Amino acid sequence: MKFFVDTADTSEIADLAATGLVDGVTTNPSLVMKSGRPMREVIGEICALVEGPVSAEVTAVDYDAMVKEGRYLAEIAENVCVKVPLTMPGLKTCKTLSKAGIKVNVTLCFSAAQAILAAKAGATFVSPFVGRLDDIGEDGMRLIADIVTIYDQYDHFRTEVLVASVRHPMHVVAAAQLGADVVTLPPDVMRKLAQHPLTDKGLAAFLADWQKTGQSILPS
Ligand code: E4P
Repeated sequence: MKFFVDTADTSEIADLAATGLVDGVTTNPSLVMKSGRPMREVIGEICALVEGPVSAEVTAVDYDAMVKEGRYLAEIAENVCVKVPLTMPGLKTCKTLSKAGIKVNVTLCFSAAQAILAAKAGATFVSPFVGRLDDIGEDGMRLIADIVTIYDQYDHFRTEVLVASVRHPMHVVAAAQLGADVVTLPPDVMRKLAQHPLTDKGLAAFLADWQKTGQSILPS
């Protein structure tokens, strides 16, 4: 299972990438807005921080303009993955860019029917938003289960399921149980994955006992 970080904050990305656990990054127009930086500059910097795919989203809504923006974004760095919305023009753009060898992430996916279209359009990734479905009383993880099952039926569907809009560690665990290819994590959720109160308690007790021995592991 791959871990992407869902942010355009380069200091957060650098910090988490240093763990060796980050396989890519996703951004969207809201995250770029939060960064307060010009998009081209921030995407370029992120692409230098991580080797894996970095999703950069188009903001045009019609096909011709989306293709233009997508090609422009793809020029920023080799590891840019162009993000397009799950609309008919977005799918058409996905097909065109994918055929040209550009990686595409089809975003804002909220149904299995939409995910079938993304696979048919040759998307590298499809991004179902689990948190936003949970927020309106639907079951985000049910959608992941449906998409994984459907994609498994067809060898020619190469699209990876990228679980997005992740809100907490149990989304990650459930996505892993379902065999999703990728989860994209807000930095705080990634850090929360490592936390457990019994780990903290156990470590404090070990360190207190160790101090009583007066020893140090490395020779002085
Ligand atoms: C990722 O590609 C999405 O842009 C992101 O996960 C959306 O998350 P949100 O629902 O927390 O905004």
